[in-house]
Amino acid sequence: MNKHYLIKGDVFKVLPTIKNKIDAVIVDPPYNTANKNTKILKGRKARSSDFGKWDYFSNNDYLKFTEEWLKLITPILKENGNLLVFSKLEYISDIKRIYERLGFKHHATIIWHKTNPAPQIRKNGFLSSCEAILWATHGFDNKKISYTFNFSKQNEMHNFIQTPICMGRERTAHPTQKPKKVIEHLMRIFTNEKDLVLDCFAGSGTLAEVADSMKRNSINIENDQEFFKIMKKRLKDIDGVKVLNIKS
Ligand SMILES: C[S@@+](CC[C@H](N)C(=O)[O-])C[C@H]1O[C@@H](n2cnc3c(N)ncnc32)[C@H](O)[C@@H]1O
Repeated sequence: MNKHYLIKGDVFKVLPTIKNKIDAVIVDPPYNTANKNTKILKGRKARSSDFGKWDYFSNNDYLKFTEEWLKLITPILKENGNLLVFSKLEYISDIKRIYERLGFKHHATIIWHKTNPAPQIRKNGFLSSCEAILWATHGFDNKKISYTFNFSKQNEMHNFIQTPICMGRERTAHPTQKPKKVIEHLMRIFTNEKDLVLDCFAGSGTLAEVADSMKRNSINIENDQEFFKIMKKRLKDIDGVKVLNIKS
């Protein structure tokens, strides 16, 4: 049976308490996307860009926040561990620079193309249909270390993945829920069965659900009470789930 720890608490309080060595971090942090001027379409609140207070930073605070949580995962990720970080396109080089300063090696940026992005009501700009996933590995200072990279077929290994944003039965009330298909793709390439995978901004628990279906173990951290409830409900039928509460 695979194990999945759901930890309710702040990433900055929880990460220093983790003693396990992590095989891979696949993480979808706040994007700093929220925009108070965004028009909310009736019945399509989940597609607005104003996701909530957790996604509001000034630019400098966002970079500081990113550096601080990346610093905390550095000691717990195994020496050959993979790091996958979701980001909006505008922050790719900032995040890359931050983790390179911490000793990570950047390998590639993967583009996720959403086939059903929010429409451009005013028709004065592009639809925001692409997000980035940055891939780096840990512990490469002049050493030959092999990392997990499960190459399948040439036509499946483009640095591009295309899916709709999640809809229908897969969709929870979390406003920025990632489709399982995207996480499954990353899980297949960057991890193996029995690995321990960390998602320190877990939201609705997409990573844990995918990890269990693919026989991986996971640690999932989320500090928002409502999102944590959504995650617990979503994963209630998985036997290996253990819920922990770290006081903020
Ligand atoms: C982009 S969402 C993740 C969505 C997730 N991938 C899914 O599929 O549902 C980022 C999450 O990070 C959480 N978060 C923000 N700041 C946090 C912090 N300091 N500690 C723990 N969680 C935090 C937010 O509440 C939000 O649910």
